[in-house]
Amino acid sequence: MVLSKDFLWGGDISATQIEGAWNEDGKSPVETDYLLPGKKGIPRYAYYQLKNGKMGKALQFSGQAPKGSKFILKKDQVYPNHFASDFYHHYKEDIALLAEMGFKALNITISWARILPNGIKGGVNPKGIDFYLAVLKELKKYNIKPITTLYKYDMPAFYITEFGGWSNRELIAEYLAFCKICFNNFKDYVEYWVTFNEINILKWTLDGNNNASQTDKQRIFQETHNQLVASAKAIQLGHDINPANKIGCMVCGLFTYPRTCNPDDVLANQKFMQDNIFLFSDVIVRGHYPSYAKRIFEEYNVNIEFSTEDEKDLINGKADFLPFSYYFTNCVSGAHSQRGLLTGVSSAYENKNPYLKSTEWDWQIDAKGLKYALELLNDRYDNFPLLIIENGIGAKDVLNSDNTIHDQYRIDYHRKHIKALESAVSEGVNLLGYTMWSCIDLVSAGTGELRKRYGFIYIDVNDDGTGTYKRYKKDSFYWYKKVIQTNGNDLD
Ligand code: BG6
Repeated sequence: MVLSKDFLWGGDISATQIEGAWNEDGKSPVETDYLLPGKKGIPRYAYYQLKNGKMGKALQFSGQAPKGSKFILKKDQVYPNHFASDFYHHYKEDIALLAEMGFKALNITISWARILPNGIKGGVNPKGIDFYLAVLKELKKYNIKPITTLYKYDMPAFYITEFGGWSNRELIAEYLAFCKICFNNFKDYVEYWVTFNEINILKWTLDGNNNASQTDKQRIFQETHNQLVASAKAIQLGHDINPANKIGCMVCGLFTYPRTCNPDDVLANQKFMQDNIFLFSDVIVRGHYPSYAKRIFEEYNVNIEFSTEDEKDLINGKADFLPFSYYFTNCVSGAHSQRGLLTGVSSAYENKNPYLKSTEWDWQIDAKGLKYALELLNDRYDNFPLLIIENGIGAKDVLNSDNTIHDQYRIDYHRKHIKALESAVSEGVNLLGYTMWSCIDLVSAGTGELRKRYGFIYIDVNDDGTGTYKRYKKDSFYWYKKVIQTNGNDLD
């Protein structure tokens, strides 16, 4: 048997993408609640109004809404995260289905805006605590371990428009207050915590935004630094509250290959992974910035406000494990320097790999790349514990008249990825688990579509929110159940 008996088989969901109930029981709005849908190649934007009445729009994740502005909802528009999969009212039924599959773990995110909707000054929202306690109790009932993510692009929106977002260091204290409430209130139920989801995403978004100014560059590097410090402080706090807590900080696995064996491509690829993955994972695992950080800050011409206190926090707040997401790989070429992931401009990064097939949303399917990623991280961090959080295929599923959903493509996708991870583990990689995205259908983060489905459980809801919200088991549901039952031995 390749995998240990404690291997964490499971899935992932996230508050903004699954819960719905966006303004119920005291929750305040988050930036995602203002995002209009996009689609393949068309990013999502949130509209805001400046004090002088002028309107503007902020690219998703960019935190571009200026201080003093107000996010607005446009009339007659669909805001998909408002309804999502309505997990808020279906969590018992959903968790029972996950238990039927034999889940050992579920990665959930706790919405900051349900717990502290108006920040420290507004106090705790008891209904937010009650909701997550109810979810955690339900998970415990079935022996499903929660992997609890504390931040996934979902702080209350007023932090952006009133505080100026993560570039304001006061936000660190607000975040820690939120973390403390979670560590204290949920400590009897949670062992695994994740401080931030995809902490490298802001930097990636910066490269994808061809309109980014020098001020944006400075802001985003400072914001990311502040998040890394916040994460390290949260790890210290979590360990103080309960030394048994295992706490990680997650990176988006943007793994790449050189486009060719031309040394220029090889160096460009090395640089791409330093700039977009390792800069962050090095800080998380080693507790300090790597030597090449200086080169990156010089290239972007940014100056990070970095105190000796920060230095101590980073070293004292090293993670216990490294969670990462993995969806696709790309190739990097030394020939271009322009990158434009969100704006569709041809770029050094977006070189498709001729050896790989793509999903309907043009994400390249690369199971062997998962082994490559695991080995890279394992070598770099000397057998440090890794956890695959989020790996899956977005596809248009069809609900047949007999309530079946034949998603053989999803089974093939996961089968190959599980084979790849088993191969890495058999060669010594220290892997804690595999939680796939997203066990239950939910709103796509990047496009706001519901038709881009990832789950083993189908939700009857359309892009515009119409539907019965009934849950149906896809073919992959039964397949994953068998995989878990046999601890990954039977993948047929
Ligand atoms: C991950 C995000 O990077 O990608 C998820 O953490 C997201 O929130 C997932 O849903 C898939 O992306 P998308 O755009 O297809 O939803």
